[in-house]
Amino acid sequence: MAETLAEAVSRRRTFAIIAHPDAGKTTLTEKLLLFGGAIQLAGEVKAKKDRIQTRSDWMKIERERGISVVTSVMTFEYDGKVFNILDTPGHEDFADDTYRTLTAVDAAVMVIDAAKGIEPRTLKLFEVCRMRDIPIITFVNKMDRESRDPFEILDEVEEKLALDTAPVTWPVGRSKTFCGSYNLADNTFRGSDTQVEPLKVNGPQSVAEHLPENERQAFIEELELAREACRPFDRKAFLEGHMTPVFFGSALRNFGVRDLINALGAFAPPPRDQVADIRTVHAAEDRMTAFVFKIQANMDPNHRDRIAFARICSGKLERGMKARLSRTGKQMGLTAPQFFFASQRQLADTAYAGDVVGIPNHGTLRIGDTLTEGESLVFQGVPNFSPEILRRVRLEDAMKAKKLKEALQQMAEEGVVQLFQPEDGSPAIVGVVGALQLDVLKERLSAEYGLPVSFDMPRFSVCRWISADQPAELEKFMTQQRGNMCRDLDGDPVFMAQDAFSLRYEAERYPAIKMVAIKEYH
Ligand code: G4P
Repeated sequence: MAETLAEAVSRRRTFAIIAHPDAGKTTLTEKLLLFGGAIQLAGEVKAKKDRIQTRSDWMKIERERGISVVTSVMTFEYDGKVFNILDTPGHEDFADDTYRTLTAVDAAVMVIDAAKGIEPRTLKLFEVCRMRDIPIITFVNKMDRESRDPFEILDEVEEKLALDTAPVTWPVGRSKTFCGSYNLADNTFRGSDTQVEPLKVNGPQSVAEHLPENERQAFIEELELAREACRPFDRKAFLEGHMTPVFFGSALRNFGVRDLINALGAFAPPPRDQVADIRTVHAAEDRMTAFVFKIQANMDPNHRDRIAFARICSGKLERGMKARLSRTGKQMGLTAPQFFFASQRQLADTAYAGDVVGIPNHGTLRIGDTLTEGESLVFQGVPNFSPEILRRVRLEDAMKAKKLKEALQQMAEEGVVQLFQPEDGSPAIVGVVGALQLDVLKERLSAEYGLPVSFDMPRFSVCRWISADQPAELEKFMTQQRGNMCRDLDGDPVFMAQDAFSLRYEAERYPAIKMVAIKEYH
């Protein structure tokens, strides 16, 4: 019997992996894809990185610096579920990209290095997940190496993240003697991930036999303590974002990944309801809705094509259908939506709520755009962060000013940089969250547009989006501050200040003006 829409939607699991660089995100992604049959051999994800990088000069930066700039999505099936992993750049200079990606997931896997515990970037990413009530599954990685005591790791998660922990599995052995995990809930033991079905065991004693003699007694006692001292897993608390189930393993040595993938299938939520301006949209509604959270350009540098990554929020997307773009009210044909598998792109004939598709376009779609089957609604919550660094772009060849203007507009639409046009007509200002984004901009302007540029410091260092309840107040402020006013890509007013002090000073002088550091796309 054909699958109903509700069934198809309920099989979807869309998640991101959050981690501090080096904790093992790439390795874990690779192993998940391996189990899903999406790749044949471990090593392809990294190998693929190298291949893609030759496609575009802009990605040279990725290669040279050994960082991942591009957010991508990969889809695979396992045990009847469809998993969409959204990859996020590890480097904090691309934090805004990561935050936007997290608006498109329903759950996250937090990877912790067992020797290092909660690291700064993990903490930051966790905070974003918490802001959005995204449930988190914890994977304590690298148990095959010298690691901290599991109780200590659990304590640290509880303390630093104010999150209850529920170890679902317990590591058997440590570093060299690490040989699998004991499932506290159903008393089973799984050695390496090649073992598909875990073994039912007769209590801790029989599991302890996998360990050297001198470690057995300690293991049995530790397990007893874990049972007594740790909370049992409570799915409701997990879905509400108060509790994280914890798994121990080693992505590199194939331990614990199968437990993790099963947990994603069993515990992680199906596609969530999404809040739009006029109503809440339920995932299993008949009509298709989606929003764009990422634009990636020049996947093929010969054609200036862009792929807009859209998360489907409800219904079913069918190839060839027409969708309404809320920002303009215009229709666009979805003639070639694509799915992304680890080894290839594929035309998507149908995609369901929870899935992420790539929509090729020539600049029609922007970050934050909503697509519907006709209804006029706009999804909320794809954020824009006020930049930490502001620069003016200086052209080496002044004749190319018009070309630069176009190029900057395109880069801004892709979310590479933010673009601010001063009201006094002076040259545009670009804003970024991290310095590496400026390198990407420079590299791409040169490689793709033939525009060598350098950057100058403007007299501003901070900016805020402004609004007021009374339009007259806003107008008054903007007139009086004309030399400090810009418009962003959407035409929204942005106040530029020399430094944090003058920002505070002006905010106090004009109490009717609201100044915000985060703007939600609309
Ligand atoms: P990231 O994406 O989070 O930055 O981490 P990645 O997977 O690239 O892993 C970082 C390093 O940690 C890699 O070693 C990787 O092989 C290693 N690693 C990942 N998981 C485990 C594990 O479970 N156990 C052990 N012992 N090591 C693990 P590298 O030498 O930096 O890179 P590579 O040359 O091996 O690729």
